[in-house]
Amino acid sequence: MNVIANSYSIYSTLDHLRREGKKIGVVPTMGALHEGHLSLVRRAKSECDVAVATIFVNPSQFGPNEDFQRYPRTLEADLAMLHAAGCDFVFTPAVETIYPEGYSTYIEPPEVANRLEGAFRPGHFRGVATIVLKLFMLIPAQVAYFGRKDYQQVVVISTMVRDLAVPIRIEACETIRETDGLAMSSRNRYLSASDRKRALGLSRALQRAQKMVDAGCTNVSELESAMREVLVSAPVDSIDYAIVVDTETLQSIESIKHAAVALIAVHVGKTRLIDNQTLVRRA
Ligand code: PAJ
Repeated sequence: MNVIANSYSIYSTLDHLRREGKKIGVVPTMGALHEGHLSLVRRAKSECDVAVATIFVNPSQFGPNEDFQRYPRTLEADLAMLHAAGCDFVFTPAVETIYPEGYSTYIEPPEVANRLEGAFRPGHFRGVATIVLKLFMLIPAQVAYFGRKDYQQVVVISTMVRDLAVPIRIEACETIRETDGLAMSSRNRYLSASDRKRALGLSRALQRAQKMVDAGCTNVSELESAMREVLVSAPVDSIDYAIVVDTETLQSIESIKHAAVALIAVHVGKTRLIDNQTLVRRA
């Protein structure tokens, strides 16, 4: 496994491989890796000739009062995990490599970025869109793998790629969970033992919604009330949103026709957690 911090080196090495006919898959990450990230790397490795991971804690996607400074940085452990997962290249740029002195160009993300996470984290998707497009410029991959764990992020990136005709395919991959249902996240390591128990409210609320849909409920306000009830009794400390919306536009709907997505963002202790579940009406 090759670890490369220089942007010219990563581009020229991978460009060379691509010209030899190799299929390249990229997995952008901010490090503090867990099985969720590794599942993306394994998928990239199984579908492509060359799997590339990137590790970069992107300052432009964090708000002024968010956790950029304390975001976990565990490079040595990350590299060992990537190596074991069969990753071929890791791009680990310094902040100055990505945002050199005088940097001032940012991507204006698509409309769908203004809702939900975008409303609670102003500027977040502008930072995400900017770094992801920049990584796509530096890493000449044919396919990029993202987790559905960050559902709106996948929608924002897919829309940007379509709108700007970026020549890359976006693959959305399943959320990997702990055995008790908690979605894996680098931020889970902030949780105290009691926070960790309360954090189960998210997956339980989503399971409750899916059970109700399985039992024939299609009424969105009933589903949303039920999710809130589970979250309040967990108890989480505050709810940013717990809603059921259209799977593509993330706009409000009144009832579920075929499918919808339930999205939750809450605070547990000092930690903000998100999770989601696609709700499918069977038969
Ligand atoms: P990060 O939070 O490190 O996540 C990197 C990738 O791993 C994202 O595509 C995310 O959706 C996926 N992921 C995280 N937890 C997962 C889980 N439990 N199951 C499956 N996939 C999971 O998302 C980012 O970094 C950044 O915004 C980034 C795209 C790298 C831009 O800076």
